[in-house]
Amino acid sequence: MQISHSEAVRLFPQGHALGDAFCNRENERERLKNCFLHNEHTVIVAPRRYGKSSLIRQTLIDAKIPGKRIDLLPATNVLFINKAIKLCFSELINQISPKTKNAKEKLIEFVKKLHPKLSLSFFGQKVEISTSQSPEESVIDLLAGLDTAAKKLSKRVVICLDEFQQAGLLKDHHSMEAAIRHAVERSTNITYIFSGSSRHLLNQMFRTKSRPLYHLCELMELERIKPEIYFPILSERAEKQWKEKVNSDAIQEILNITRCHPYYVNALCRQLWKMPHSPKIHVVQKVWFDYIETQTNWITDDLGKLKPNQRNILAALAYQPIEEPYSNSFSERVKIGASSIHKSLDILIENDFVYRDNDKKYKVLDPAIETWLNQIKYFDFIED
Ligand SMILES: Nc1ncnc2c1ncn2[C@@H]1O[C@H](COP(=O)(O)OP(=O)(O)OP(=O)(O)O)[C@@H](O)[C@H]1O
Ligand SMILES: [Mg+2]
Repeated sequence: MQISHSEAVRLFPQGHALGDAFCNRENERERLKNCFLHNEHTVIVAPRRYGKSSLIRQTLIDAKIPGKRIDLLPATNVLFINKAIKLCFSELINQISPKTKNAKEKLIEFVKKLHPKLSLSFFGQKVEISTSQSPEESVIDLLAGLDTAAKKLSKRVVICLDEFQQAGLLKDHHSMEAAIRHAVERSTNITYIFSGSSRHLLNQMFRTKSRPLYHLCELMELERIKPEIYFPILSERAEKQWKEKVNSDAIQEILNITRCHPYYVNALCRQLWKMPHSPKIHVVQKVWFDYIETQTNWITDDLGKLKPNQRNILAALAYQPIEEPYSNSFSERVKIGASSIHKSLDILIENDFVYRDNDKKYKVLDPAIETWLNQIKYFDFIED
């Protein structure tokens, strides 16, 4: 059978999943859409590659609300945030503003403080702004100006500050966080969504009393997509792809072996869906192990940053997840005292190497690291 590789890449993207590549998350989409509509500012927290950005983008499409996602990962100073918000302002104001020059000129009245001007572009009249204040003052005025304009036009808009933990790491972060709080508290027509993968840093930003953003938002913790939700979606995609009866044990194996981690489900399926026939269990396993082999460099790099005790605990959890890591039996198994287990496990959890699943067991978070550790390679690695 002639199989299109680009279809496999489209259905199981490495980047953001949107449209028919986006699997379900109906409850989360509904909840987020309601936040967008009702001005409920929200922090979305989940480990890396769980699907935060895809969820935000897909919900913006679903809700048909003008919105802009700002990626703060590359932010190295507060000027970056200021520049990104300025761009966001121009884009959103152009999205919500009426089309005629006359109406645009009226709108400009509401945001006069920002020295707006109309310029002619290929797409027609565009509002541009220039500010000459400090980055923090400028952020306050831009966001207040956008909110006023949205209110006058009876429009709602959404601003998503993705990888927001970066803002908390900047020099002068306190005054920028205070500026953002000022804007968020006063906003009536802009909903703010903050998201990021460092639960630890985001907790510090939003849950520490001395920080400006304390108790400003609702919290939404994103979990993995459940196997009972993934299973019918993958089965349907497989039947459509190979037009033959699909081995349901193989589909189940995809979900077992990747632990339903969306990034790895996509990585594995992207390979499987390029094959001429629907996979059997042993093919799923072979493709997965081959894939893990190709990931060795970053895995050894990541494990190399851990202390021996932390690595031993991680390897033990990869071999067998456990509910009682402070018990004598686990302590004997890893040959580490209970108080050292405590300290090491805290660090492993803080850095997203380990998580506590809904079944209360402590598990290795990344299925690629888990598989790698279980393939004896761990012992080769520590002997090097
Ligand atoms: N609902 C979904 N359905 C299908 N695939 C998804 C879904 N959500 C995410 N993915 C896939 O998971 C991977 C990670 O998605 P995404 O980039 O949205 O996550 P993220 O949490 O924003 O990651 P990062 O922490 O790196 O910013 C991508 O391969 C994406 O295609
Ligand atoms: Mg992201």
